[in-house]
Amino acid sequence: MALTLTLFILITITVTITTRVLATGNWTLLHANIGITAMHMQLLPNDRILIFDRTDFGLSNISLADGKCREDNDDLVLKNDCTAHSIEYDVLTNSIRPLMVQTDVWCSSGSLMPDGTVVQTGGFNDGDHVVRIYDSCDKCDWKEIKSGLINRRWYATNHILPGGRQIVVGGRRQYNYEFYPKMSVSENAYSFPFLVMTHDPKLENNLYPFVFLNPDGKLFIFANNRAILFDYSKNNVLRTFPEIPGGDPRNYPSTGSAVLLPMRILKGNVGVVEVLVCGGAPKGAFRKALNGTFVRALRSCARIRVSDPNPKWVMETMPLARVMGDMLLLPNGEVLIINGASAGTAGWEKGREPVLHPVLYKPDNMLGHRFEAQTPSTIPRMYHSTAILVRDGRVLVGGSNPHVYYNFTNVRYPTELRFEAFSPSYLDPSLCGSRPKISPDSQTQFRYGDQVKVRFMLSGHVDPKSLLVTMVSPSFNTHSFSMNQRLLILDGVNTATPIGNSKYQVVVTAPPSANIAPAKYYLLFVVYKQVPSEGIWVQIS
Ligand SMILES: *[C@@H]1O[C@H](CO)[C@@H](O)[C@H](O)[C@H]1NC(C)=O
Ligand SMILES: *[C@@H]1O[C@H](CO)[C@@H](O)[C@H](O)[C@H]1NC(C)=O
Ligand SMILES: *[C@@H]1O[C@H](CO)[C@@H](O)[C@H](O)[C@H]1NC(C)=O
Ligand SMILES: *[C@@H]1O[C@H](CO)[C@@H](O)[C@H](O)[C@H]1NC(C)=O
Repeated sequence: MALTLTLFILITITVTITTRVLATGNWTLLHANIGITAMHMQLLPNDRILIFDRTDFGLSNISLADGKCREDNDDLVLKNDCTAHSIEYDVLTNSIRPLMVQTDVWCSSGSLMPDGTVVQTGGFNDGDHVVRIYDSCDKCDWKEIKSGLINRRWYATNHILPGGRQIVVGGRRQYNYEFYPKMSVSENAYSFPFLVMTHDPKLENNLYPFVFLNPDGKLFIFANNRAILFDYSKNNVLRTFPEIPGGDPRNYPSTGSAVLLPMRILKGNVGVVEVLVCGGAPKGAFRKALNGTFVRALRSCARIRVSDPNPKWVMETMPLARVMGDMLLLPNGEVLIINGASAGTAGWEKGREPVLHPVLYKPDNMLGHRFEAQTPSTIPRMYHSTAILVRDGRVLVGGSNPHVYYNFTNVRYPTELRFEAFSPSYLDPSLCGSRPKISPDSQTQFRYGDQVKVRFMLSGHVDPKSLLVTMVSPSFNTHSFSMNQRLLILDGVNTATPIGNSKYQVVVTAPPSANIAPAKYYLLFVVYKQVPSEGIWVQIS
């Protein structure tokens, strides 16, 4: 009896462990050395990733193409530099091509534009007023517009707007915003007192504010420990949301992260709009780090229902404390919290105790049952690390450079050139049979409100109740924030019509307006029982 019981317990433990290992994702090293540290990343509609760090770091580990060199008398470190500080990484071939930025792009921002080009804004020193355009092709390189910006933009946040322009919000000592492209040569920057109010005189704590486009066309802007709903076209604060309980800051250098949770479209509307803010470092953490004390990061997340008349932050506790984490929306609507440290803050040499475990957040689960720790990486991803979702559902992770230069030795957390992929558990080979596969005869060009045919292969009986069609906006990731990130759950998946051997068609309604889905490229996924297909690129106009 005792033996049977012991055996039973042993078997149960073994089964539990096996299931846990299978169900918590895995890591793959893609590249031992991509030549630069992935400080900023943007996925492009041709499955390449535009990556850049900064020009005044010294020599990177990848040479410019064709023996080219960059002459820059204004560069603070090298006047003549034959190494690249930007690359294009091809996800499909796992290959790299060096690119040339002319001026300093350090701690800048950007967005994918409606036509699929990237428009990046600002940086440091000779690059702080520059706008740069990258239009991907096999030989393409950056183009620079010298005085593209009215004000210097360093640590600003960008968002694509319904009209197709970008808004550029804030930046160091910039309590204002501007647009790109400009409506006219005389268009100015607009003052933004919210950034004065949320600015901690010595510690800042409101850089890289969290900016989201609300479905009413206004912006939800979070800085430090609170948020507003903002009408950028009239420079008018429409609503002021309460401070997060506890009052701890969540923006640089107390760097937490935030996402606009998946938005379900029903009959042409998004009913519920929610924002989730996680992690960061407590008040005063930066000053303490300057003195050599690295305080524990925040373990709390705060979730608010922006669409409520009287919204309140609801607090939740992560399994692990985290500063400098990245929050990514996965195709099935779950949130991955990845990278970062459990002590200290963002900034040079100010993070300690890397958090190697990603954590999954399931927004639809009951409060108290939403977090799940995942398989850890072995590589610390501290300040200046990034993470990005790619079309096949993996999350690519790069960067970590908490020093002024590329320091590979004699430092606590060496500059990191390794590039890896985290495969969430939905990519587990055991789920291959239940993964939908989108058929190439699906529609990929939509207009607002269109009835869109999505065709996919899936074996076995398909229950439409377990089916979702989602659209994910590829984001610009840097400093633990993914600009433009949003996930839409499309309306209309009531029936899945069989149209052949294991082939089905659903008719979904394209998003109703540019407020809900600014015109541009998106990744579209069919999700069955939480398992997403590979995405396909779609364009809405
Ligand atoms: C990159 O680093 C490797 C190993 O240290 C070195 O051999 C190589 O010369 C470096 N390449 C460049 C372009 O700096
Ligand atoms: C940091 O150290 C200095 C010098 O020892 C001291 O005056 C200051 O109070 C300390 N600040 C904090 C926040 O601990
Ligand atoms: C990092 O590298 C630079 C340039 O190679 C060097 O001057 C600096 O001392 C290094 N920093 C540290 C913390 O080792
Ligand atoms: C890691 O995950 C990927 C995607 O699920 C899979 O293809 C691969 O076989 C896995 N590798 C290991 C070692 O489990």
